[in-house]
Amino acid sequence: MNTLHSIAQLRAALARARQENKRIGLVPTMGNLHDGHIALVEKALQRSDYVVVSIFVNPLQFGPNEDLDSYPRTLAEDQRKLLDAGAHMVFAPSVNEMYPEGMDGHTLVSVPVVSEGLCGASRPGHFDGVSTVVSKLLNIVQPDLAVFGEKDFQQLAVIRKMAHDLCLPAQIMGAPIVRAADGLALSSRNGYLDETQRRSAPRLYQTLQHIEQQLVGGRRDFPVVIEEARIMLTEAGFRPDYLDLRDALTLQPANSETQDMVALAAAFLGATRLIDNLRFSLA
Ligand code: PAF
Repeated sequence: MNTLHSIAQLRAALARARQENKRIGLVPTMGNLHDGHIALVEKALQRSDYVVVSIFVNPLQFGPNEDLDSYPRTLAEDQRKLLDAGAHMVFAPSVNEMYPEGMDGHTLVSVPVVSEGLCGASRPGHFDGVSTVVSKLLNIVQPDLAVFGEKDFQQLAVIRKMAHDLCLPAQIMGAPIVRAADGLALSSRNGYLDETQRRSAPRLYQTLQHIEQQLVGGRRDFPVVIEEARIMLTEAGFRPDYLDLRDALTLQPANSETQDMVALAAAFLGATRLIDNLRFSLA
């Protein structure tokens, strides 16, 4: 497994892989890899012959008061994990390699509607940053497929819509959330939690499970169920950002006809913002 930092070198390596008729898979990441990322790599390995994992903490998707500077950068450890997982190539560009003329004035890819609300409401510009960097990575690598985690449910919907609208040839695939034994969705940001917060953190998933139980049990008073869930989160020490019920296919607000449902939540524990979601059927 090689690590390359330049777009030109990566393209040359990929040209060789393509000459050997290899099917190329891409797993875009921001590094600090955990088992959730490794599950994405495993999925890419099952469906392609040559897996590129990009590691790039993309400044364009961070707001001015967010954790760009403190976001953990652990390249050596990530390389070890990716070697063990069987990835073929790591692409770890610098900010200058990705944005040689800087980010001001850089072309932005913006996906309306699906980027709005939920994380898009509390993180203005975030999804433009994600769509822009993912479209760059897809253009650089030109993979047959790219795998993203379903924990970032809205992000995956944004990327699917972008790829569809822009006729990008890569197949966009989701991979299920990987959870710790106590139910907490794995995330690089879990590392910010102190011991007490880490003990409370699984309550986020438990709250989503409570919503599912109520709805599967027949309740349709969505606003009341959401309000109860908000109180549960607050009592567990969270500061909820949003809790919402959406149609899992369209991400439009759920209504009494919705069958493929997703409950989505973002909430702060101290300064750490955690997100999670739970998809379930009411058919
Ligand atoms: O989900 C992430 O880690 C990032 O948003 C992504 C998709 C790698 C783009 O920077």
